[in-house]
Amino acid sequence: MKTKLRLGIIGAGSVVREIYQYLYFRSSYTPLLDICAVADPNEQYRNWFGDLAGLPANRRFSDYKELIAKTELDAVQINTPDHLHCAPTVAALNAGLDVVVPKPTAATLKDAHAMIETAKKTGRFLGVDFHKREDPRIKEAEARFQGGRYGQFQAAVFYMLDKLMVADPNHTPRFFASPDFAEKNTPASFLTVHMADALMKIVNLTPVQVRAVGYSQKLPSLKPIAVKGYDLVDTEILFSTGAIAHILTGWALPNTAWATTVQSSRIICSDGLIDLNLDQPGLREIHADGIFEVNPLFKNFEKDKSVTGYGISSPGRFYQQILASQNGKLSVEEREAMNSPIALGFYTALVLEAAEKSLAEGDKLATGATIGSTVDLRKLVAAQLGANAAKQYQLG
Ligand SMILES: NC(=O)c1ccc[n+]([C@@H]2O[C@H](COP(=O)([O-])OP(=O)(O)OC[C@H]3O[C@@H](n4cnc5c(N)ncnc54)[C@H](O)[C@@H]3O)[C@@H](O)[C@H]2O)c1
Repeated sequence: MKTKLRLGIIGAGSVVREIYQYLYFRSSYTPLLDICAVADPNEQYRNWFGDLAGLPANRRFSDYKELIAKTELDAVQINTPDHLHCAPTVAALNAGLDVVVPKPTAATLKDAHAMIETAKKTGRFLGVDFHKREDPRIKEAEARFQGGRYGQFQAAVFYMLDKLMVADPNHTPRFFASPDFAEKNTPASFLTVHMADALMKIVNLTPVQVRAVGYSQKLPSLKPIAVKGYDLVDTEILFSTGAIAHILTGWALPNTAWATTVQSSRIICSDGLIDLNLDQPGLREIHADGIFEVNPLFKNFEKDKSVTGYGISSPGRFYQQILASQNGKLSVEEREAMNSPIALGFYTALVLEAAEKSLAEGDKLATGATIGSTVDLRKLVAAQLGANAAKQYQLG
């Protein structure tokens, strides 16, 4: 019986610095993982990670295909930007490896569908790390809502606003390894997906229509490197029941904000409401730099130097499941639950692609606002993936 997974790391940028280095080297999941190799075309990040993991030079690759071909592995974690999740995932699954990716599944529906279909075809494990799903407040909200306590979901507002330093390529040190991350992505791809996924998990409904409004007023004024991108996006999601949600996400809050991410939500139902004050978990500090809300639920630096929290346990649980699965100890029910389109983030990828389509087709005002078009999700899935896939995802 295996007690450890031989793991290859593909992509070693900001998400590895902020979250996964603690999972790999300082968590209760560390004993399950043998970090065998890294692949990243960026030499600086490849060697930062290679040094951290103590990897010899012949286990540091610039090309993920070489990592897959030349290393004996059980699984890979693919931490590349969203538009680069699909190709390494499909290659790794086809090579017989299990795969974990950070949220979102992919940048497009076609990519998400290809990843899901390859996982099905190969019978390998695919896990998408939407860590908010493991936030105890979201889990409690889900259980209470689905217990019928609040009646029918009617409307919701979610906020998730990052400090400008996240999107600003002029900030030292730069947050993202990729210098053009903020220009190639949007608050919808980086942040809306977290909240859309959390909401859909709580209310368990299928989205049917999306319309987005975007504001590009701060990012283009950045100096010396300006960013052609959205500061803020309001994504309106209509569900099959007629319920509606507005998910407001941005990355242009002044750097004096009380947390890197200022976030909250209110879900209004026929018989009650739920408030999730996600950025006020109860530990507020005042020190020389200002007043801060600390979230130890997400990432908690313990006295013994280990790191706990749902940011760590969410991907950690995938590795427990992969180990169980490779040892033939995962039940059919558990496997089926992990392979559902909701678990694999299909509807979240759908909302993302629709929000970006809505903005791309929208009216651009002289003020920097873009009033997006209305996108019918059933038509979008049929156009992108065909009628059969639309039926498969209950959108036919
Ligand atoms: N940064 C965060 O806090 C955070 C949190 C949750 C999820 N994520 C997700 O993590 C993923 C990565 O984002 P990031 O913030 O780390 O971006 P990043 O730009 O900081 O890092 C991406 C890394 O991938 C590398 N890369 C690019 N092409 C590659 C290839 N073909 N093979 C191997 N490596 C390649 C880049 O060189 C870079 O080092 C995205 O899907 C993002 O949405 C990020």
